[in-house]
Amino acid sequence: MIATGISAISFYTPHRYIGLETLAEHHGIDPEKFSKGIGQEKIAMPGHDEDIVTMAAEAAKPIIDRYGADGIDTVLFATETGIDQSKSAGIYVHQLLGLPANCRNVELKQACYSATPALQMACSYVARKPDRKVLVIASDVARYDLDSSGEATQGAGAVAMLVTANPTVLEIGANSGVFTEDIMDFWRPNDRRTPLFDGKYSTLRYLNAMTEAWKDYQANGGHAYDTFSHFCYHLPFSRMGEKAHGRLAKANKTPIDMDKALSGMAYNRVVGNSYTASIYLSLMSTLENTEGDLTGNMIGLFSYGSGATGEFFDAKVVEGYADHLFTKRHQDILSERVSVSYDEYVALWNAPNVVDGTSEPLAEEARGRYRLARIDENKRIYIDQHA
Ligand code: CAA
Repeated sequence: MIATGISAISFYTPHRYIGLETLAEHHGIDPEKFSKGIGQEKIAMPGHDEDIVTMAAEAAKPIIDRYGADGIDTVLFATETGIDQSKSAGIYVHQLLGLPANCRNVELKQACYSATPALQMACSYVARKPDRKVLVIASDVARYDLDSSGEATQGAGAVAMLVTANPTVLEIGANSGVFTEDIMDFWRPNDRRTPLFDGKYSTLRYLNAMTEAWKDYQANGGHAYDTFSHFCYHLPFSRMGEKAHGRLAKANKTPIDMDKALSGMAYNRVVGNSYTASIYLSLMSTLENTEGDLTGNMIGLFSYGSGATGEFFDAKVVEGYADHLFTKRHQDILSERVSVSYDEYVALWNAPNVVDGTSEPLAEEARGRYRLARIDENKRIYIDQHA
């Protein structure tokens, strides 16, 4: 069987964040509740002219610059925070990046999970068409109501992955374990900007979905627990990953080795939740923050989307993978950010909600190349500031 998987992986997150100690001070609570109890340090905050499209284009651009667009005939855009009920956000990105016109383009939705079926479908497709490439993008702005229990678990970010035959970074295994149950742990009706959720219940269903997906992975011929050097989890907040890691070790009657999950949490702790992008941010964090050569190592991944679907699958690190990473760029993106005060955070949180068809120019706040310049008669106008 032909090997398929990821040949490049890149992320973007906006340049503003609120430190969780600032949020703790405002609410008059112990900052360790966030740094230890939730395991988070910062919440990325997009400007009013940044959204899932601009973040996606920023994430994918370095891949196109390095590898070109030749052979890309499919864009799969995964998001939980879509900006249009009809048009795929990927079509805007396709135009901003100048991808070939002979390209299919579709948006996928299932809460935080949809980038994983996108990746799996992309692998199946390039196995059938090894000369083609698929751009898989996961991009989300995780927003909860101010003063809600989810407030500390907000964030924003995008991950772009180039999926090919004979991949140069990670081979995605053909076996996976899946689980679906119809529950209301976290959902967002069409008229709401922020989700409704039952926080504690959602953490319990997450753990159950992981255990069930793991059992299915084993039943489908998956690798044994000891095979894996690292594990990556969907990380709404990093303590969720610690809980998942503990539960998986227990299910396998093995002592918990937290080192196998910690390098995969470094980026997520300072970005916050990025819904569909979260597990792939964790994957990148593992590749870019683990000391030593990971060639040949097996990574186990658990993807979760409320509602709910879970999938456990595996990835094998390919020799020479480090040459295809964007580690320096990612470190710069994170280190060159600025913190905002509580009042500035509230102003950013209250993004203009243009619903009446009027024209709304948006303040120039984005640091990156791509901006949502205005919303004109309900049409979103994106610009490339370098064009
Ligand atoms: N120092 C250290 N730890 C402290 C502390 C302090 N001063 N004060 C509290 N803590 C600990 C608590 O003991 C608790 O630890 P355990 O989880 O080990 O019990 C932890 O901090 C959290 O505190 P609370 O139990 O008081 O919980 P909370 O009311 O703050 O809510 C939450 C936590 C339910 C996760 C909430 O953040 C939430 O609702 N988040 C949104 C939903 C979510 O992310 N769900 C995750 C699963 S669903 C999913 O994954 C999809 C998705 O992306 C949304």
